[in-house]
Amino acid sequence: MGAAGKTGRAVTRALVARGVRVRAAVRAGSRGVPDAGPSVRVVTLDLTTGDGLAEAMAGVDGVYHLAPNVHPDEVAMARRVAHSAAAQGVSRFVFHSVLHPDDASMPHHRRKAEAERAIRARLDSVTVLRPAAYAQNLVPAARAGLIEVPHSVDAPFTNVDLDDVAEVAAMVLTEEGHGGETYELAGPERLSVREMAETAASVLGHPVEAVAIPVQEWVTGPGATLPEQARDDLVAMFESYDRQGLVGDPSSLRRLLGREPRSWRDVLA
Ligand SMILES: NC(=O)c1ccc[n+]([C@@H]2O[C@H](COP(=O)([O-])OP(=O)(O)OC[C@H]3O[C@@H](n4cnc5c(N)ncnc54)[C@H](OP(=O)(O)O)[C@@H]3O)[C@@H](O)[C@H]2O)c1
Repeated sequence: MGAAGKTGRAVTRALVARGVRVRAAVRAGSRGVPDAGPSVRVVTLDLTTGDGLAEAMAGVDGVYHLAPNVHPDEVAMARRVAHSAAAQGVSRFVFHSVLHPDDASMPHHRRKAEAERAIRARLDSVTVLRPAAYAQNLVPAARAGLIEVPHSVDAPFTNVDLDDVAEVAAMVLTEEGHGGETYELAGPERLSVREMAETAASVLGHPVEAVAIPVQEWVTGPGATLPEQARDDLVAMFESYDRQGLVGDPSSLRRLLGREPRSWRDVLA
C-alpha cells in the first residue's frame, strides 16, 4: 500500500532488490508512481473507500500495509485492508506502525495502536513494524544549511535510516519466522537536532544551523496548508518532541539486519 509515497517507494525498491514480484498499490492519479521495472505492476485503489482492494490483493502472497501520514481515517483503512486480506486468504501481513504507538500525547500514534488492534482482530500472525522518525526527513534541510524545527533542538531522537527500515520490511514480508512479532525499529544513536546539525556540517562541508521556532510560527507557516486535523496532530507531536524527543531501542533492528544500522553520518554520506 502507499507504494508511491516516501515509505512505499523504499519498500518497493527493497522488495525488487530481493527478486520479489511487487504489486504496487497507488491511488488513481498519483503523481509519484515508483520506478516500475518489469517486476513491479502498478494497481490503483482507494484506501478511504476500499475501491480496488479486492482486485489488488487477488492472488498475492503477502500484504504490506501503511497508511497515509497523519490520516484521520487510518483505523478504518486498516480494518478495510485487513478485512480484504482475510477474504482473499493472504498468508502474510505486515503493518507499518510507528515507534511508541501507545503514547497518549500524540493522537496519530494512538490511531496506530488502534489500527494494530483492528488488524490483529481480523488476521492471525500479523507482523508489526514500529519505526522511529526517518533520518531522511532532515536531509533536505541539512543540505540547505538550516534545520528549523518547532520543538527543542536539544531533545533526543533515535532517527532511523529509511532504507534500513525498508530492508527489514522486505525481509519480514518474504521470510518465515516473523508472524505474530512486533519489532521496534530505532536508529543506533541518540542525537539532538543540534548534534545532527553539527554532524551534517562536518559531513557536508558547509555550515548547518539548528534553530527552534515557536510552534505558532510553524502553524501559520509550513503547517498552514495542511488539513486542520493533520495540523493539530503534528502540533501535539511537536509538543511531545519538545518534552521528551522520540527515543527507541535499536537492538531489534541490529539483530534483524545482522549488522550495525546506518548512522546519521552514513545517511548523509
Ligand atoms: N515519516 C516518518 O518519519 C515516519 C516514521 C514512522 C512511521 N511513519 C508512518 O509511515 C506511513 C507512511 O508515511 P510516508 O511518509 O511514507 O507517507 P506518504 O509519503 O504520504 O505516503 C503515503 C502514500 O499513501 C497514498 N495515499 C494517500 N491517500 C490514499 C488513499 N485514499 N488511497 C490509497 N493511497 C493513498 C499517497 O498517495 P499520493 O502519492 O498520491 O499522495 C502516498 O503515496 C505513515 O503511516 C506514517 O505515520 C512515518
